[in-house]
Amino acid sequence: MEISGGGPLQGEPESLWLASAGETGYPALDRDIEADVAVIGAGVAGLTAALALKRAGHTVAVIEAARVGTGVTGHTTGKVTSLHRLAYTELARNHGTDTARIYGQANQGAIEHIQRVVAAESVDCDFRLVANHTYAESDETLEQVRAEADLAASLGLPATFTAEVPLPFPVKGAVRFDGQAQFHAVKYLQGLARAVHGDGSCVFEQTRALRVHDGTPGEVDAEGGTVRARDIIVATNVPFADEGSFDARCQAHRSYIVAGRVDTPPLGATFISVDEPMRSILTVSIEGQTYVLTGGEGHPASEAGDSAGRYRRLAAFARDRLGVREVTHRWSTQDNLPADGLPYVGLMSADARHLYVITGLRKWGLTNGTAAALILTDIISGRENPWAAVFNSNRTTPAANAGGLAEESRAPGLPGKTSPQPGHVTLTPGEGTVIDVAGESTAVFKDADGRVHSLSAICTHLGCTVEFNAAETTWDCPCHGSRFAADGTVIHGPATANLPPGPEHLPESLK
Ligand SMILES: Cc1cc2nc3c(=O)[nH]c(=O)nc-3n(C[C@H](O)[C@H](O)[C@H](O)COP(=O)(O)OP(=O)(O)OC[C@H]3O[C@@H](n4cnc5c(N)ncnc54)[C@H](O)[C@@H]3O)c2cc1C
Ligand code: FES
Repeated sequence: MEISGGGPLQGEPESLWLASAGETGYPALDRDIEADVAVIGAGVAGLTAALALKRAGHTVAVIEAARVGTGVTGHTTGKVTSLHRLAYTELARNHGTDTARIYGQANQGAIEHIQRVVAAESVDCDFRLVANHTYAESDETLEQVRAEADLAASLGLPATFTAEVPLPFPVKGAVRFDGQAQFHAVKYLQGLARAVHGDGSCVFEQTRALRVHDGTPGEVDAEGGTVRARDIIVATNVPFADEGSFDARCQAHRSYIVAGRVDTPPLGATFISVDEPMRSILTVSIEGQTYVLTGGEGHPASEAGDSAGRYRRLAAFARDRLGVREVTHRWSTQDNLPADGLPYVGLMSADARHLYVITGLRKWGLTNGTAAALILTDIISGRENPWAAVFNSNRTTPAANAGGLAEESRAPGLPGKTSPQPGHVTLTPGEGTVIDVAGESTAVFKDADGRVHSLSAICTHLGCTVEFNAAETTWDCPCHGSRFAADGTVIHGPATANLPPGPEHLPESLK
């Protein structure tokens, strides 16, 4: 695709994980059903919970708006680790060492759980044990990684400081966690779904949940039918039924990944930098070919801007530092950063009885989401869980409830940052913009064949105005991070409804 101002971007605009996995074909819900537990969302959090609950003796119904693994988890880097950059320094400073220790135990427990599930359910997902590193390139950050290594080791985590970092470019040193892992996240989720489906439990795809009612039983009103269940878990990454005001307690944060081929074997370890711009590195072999994934360029979803430039900077790093010959895939996704650095897991609100939520996975959800699922499995099964208090969604500390978003961007009915242009603009194929058509903010996009598509530009969440993202051909909302495909379909919440069609009569200049 040509992007104005910098020539073509390299690589298919799709996740390497999704491109290299088969497709699932679970049925859509077409009737009312009952289950012990309804799980909404077939990402790592939802499917881990569903399978753990099934193995604990509950029947489950999983409701997925799209396909298994096509959400954030299908766009991840793929590190399965309890080393989250410098998380222990941050958590110990803000919450004390006991909380940091429990966070580490939960994430180590998640790695062990994933390893057990891969073996017990025979999940073919290229799960490999590797060391994970947070590396330093300056004297200042070298001291930070030394301190993180010492602290993490004192918390009982598998941490050491090392000056021997197996990267193809020189760095000063790193904290290394041994016994960490990486896997093909989509194949892992497909394996979980296979194990969930059957024996009274089921997975429904292409079924969007529209409303939830906390009751006895609870109800999930979804496209195609209602699921009645004793307990309901909302594991939609961004809770669409947000009685807990998580949109105000989290910040939607986007990051970008480029993948490309190299001639060398995989590095056998994973990496993230402390220095900015932050870079996350993972290598993987797929069908005999080594790919390097380079991630970074993160920003609050409300500050989108130059996506093409972000891809170019990642591609330059991958080429200059990691020997990537050619970028083959590029993608972005976003996750919720919790206000106090701890995920929100538990009842949806202080008043909820059987309605649970998992969110705020802080871009480390492969393990945080797994730990969250195990916490809810224990709570629903009437068992104590040692991590539950630290992750409690209803904790009342001021930091947990501090706004993750600017106050003004939370208010309903805001127009967002985009001012509609007058109706006489012109578009080249691949371009989109927001224009005023007879007083209506209208999102117009010209496809490769020169056809112009028109949608309402008003985000269906709380009414901000969407913006066109040329590098990914999406309509992005600057307020709470909802994203829509070029045809208006929701691809990331909190919005649950598609952008409706816009006016049919468009200015002549667009044709
Ligand atoms: C660029 C990037 C790289 C990352 N890399 C790593 C990493 O290396 N390691 C790591 O641990 N973490 C990583 N993370 C974070 C991790 O990928 C996420 O925290 C995790 O995948 C989130 O899982 P989830 O189950 O909450 O969400 P999802 O995977 O998005 O699952 C939620 C599902 O709910 C569905 N859904 C939404 N609304 C509805 C509805 N109304 N009805 C029915 N279904 C609905 C969606 O379609 C989706 O499939 C990364 C994050 C980013 C942004
Ligand atoms: S108004 Fe909230 S995401 Fe658009």
